[in-house]
Amino acid sequence: MAIDATSGAMTSEQIAELSRRHTFTSWSVQGAIDPIAIDRAEGVWLYTPEGRRILDFNSQLMSVNIGHGDRRVTDAIMEQATRLQFVQPAFTTEIRARLGEKLAEILPGDMDKVFFTLGGAEAIENAIKFARHFTGRTKVLARYRAYHGATMGAMTLTGDPRRWANEPGLVGVVRYPDTHRWGEAEPRPVAESLQGLEDVIRYEGPHTIAAVFLETIVCTNGILIPPDGYLQGVRELCDRHGILMVADEVMAGFGRTGRWFAVDHWDVVPDLMTMAKGLTSSYLPLGGVAMRHHVAEAFETKMFYGGLTYSSHPISLAAALATIRVYEEDGLLEHTARMGEVMRGHHERLAARHPSVGAHRNLGLFGILDLVRSHDPWTPLTPFNGTSVEMKAVGAYLREHDLYTLTPNNSIHTNPPLCISEDELAHGFEIIDAALDIADQAVAGA
Ligand SMILES: Cc1ncc(COP(=O)(O)O)c(C=O)c1O
Repeated sequence: MAIDATSGAMTSEQIAELSRRHTFTSWSVQGAIDPIAIDRAEGVWLYTPEGRRILDFNSQLMSVNIGHGDRRVTDAIMEQATRLQFVQPAFTTEIRARLGEKLAEILPGDMDKVFFTLGGAEAIENAIKFARHFTGRTKVLARYRAYHGATMGAMTLTGDPRRWANEPGLVGVVRYPDTHRWGEAEPRPVAESLQGLEDVIRYEGPHTIAAVFLETIVCTNGILIPPDGYLQGVRELCDRHGILMVADEVMAGFGRTGRWFAVDHWDVVPDLMTMAKGLTSSYLPLGGVAMRHHVAEAFETKMFYGGLTYSSHPISLAAALATIRVYEEDGLLEHTARMGEVMRGHHERLAARHPSVGAHRNLGLFGILDLVRSHDPWTPLTPFNGTSVEMKAVGAYLREHDLYTLTPNNSIHTNPPLCISEDELAHGFEIIDAALDIADQAVAGA
């Protein structure tokens, strides 16, 4: 393929073809991929090299929280890149000092120290280590309806089918019951879920369990919001047995739900909290494990056997500090809480109009529509871990009409950048509204 050497001279087709030939795409059968080439992005909009405009209704991977192309962050990146690109983690930098202080200010309760990683999965790997080193115990508990990342330990904690092909994984991971059963719209009663966890703790032996991991709000497995009292109950069980509670806020954190962190909605302070994505709004790779004061304190005299060449990378940290300033300057938490109400209105309207909308949930701008063939008996539009002709057609319609979002299983995710306006939100839901006409055809008697 003869290509002009000037940057910006390639067509979408050329970019896709060369990328497919020489680069590998995650979570894909390589021969089946059909990537969209993106040249630039601004706010909630992505632009192809030919200038086609696509509405980003999923903030890429629920991660570009402040929106695309914010000069305040790109300028901070450039400034740091010009001043100092890298020192290894045993040195320190002003940006590290400043970001650490800022995070300690916004983290829940007495969490006041962060170990920086490059992304979410590495944060999970290191949270496992912190919990094991701190407690001297080895087992970690996790749920089925969970995704924690694709490195080996994080993949083992992941309960969803993405784990299957990667087994066997880490030794010592034990499952405990989910708050929501697959294919059911409502959560189990809180007492039943907590009893399930308590049973597992009893049978495994509390003295062998280092940590209970959970996504505060289950993310890619369905935006499952825990019923009130559940997180408090997990906190109490962990306290009772000297087990660390680890909240994975890689996706739910940094304003997505209208608060800094999802745990803030229930006033629960986990012992460890993993973060990534919204920390830099994905402008650069960065993750972290935040810890409560007593956990950090233990490592004042105890060796931590873990490290990463790029822990505390100055340029990523500069992106994080600038991103946090954007959340604050633009009042994005308040805006998200308000737009979350607007999103709920759209969800309700669609549920009233379309028999295929079986359930909808959102907290802030973390939202989802679950599609069904039938409400009674409750029949999701796809089988577990599968797809269907109708679901594929819905996905294709959204793509053809320039709305990007995730449509796993029987769901349509609605997780736009937090800077989205009411008009832009309405525009996105107009496209989804039309796509749902296709799903309605699958509903018996509709
Ligand atoms: C809840 C949760 N934890 C961990 C991860 C892994 O993060 P990363 O892809 O940055 O490794 C993800 C990614 O989607 C996630 O949603």
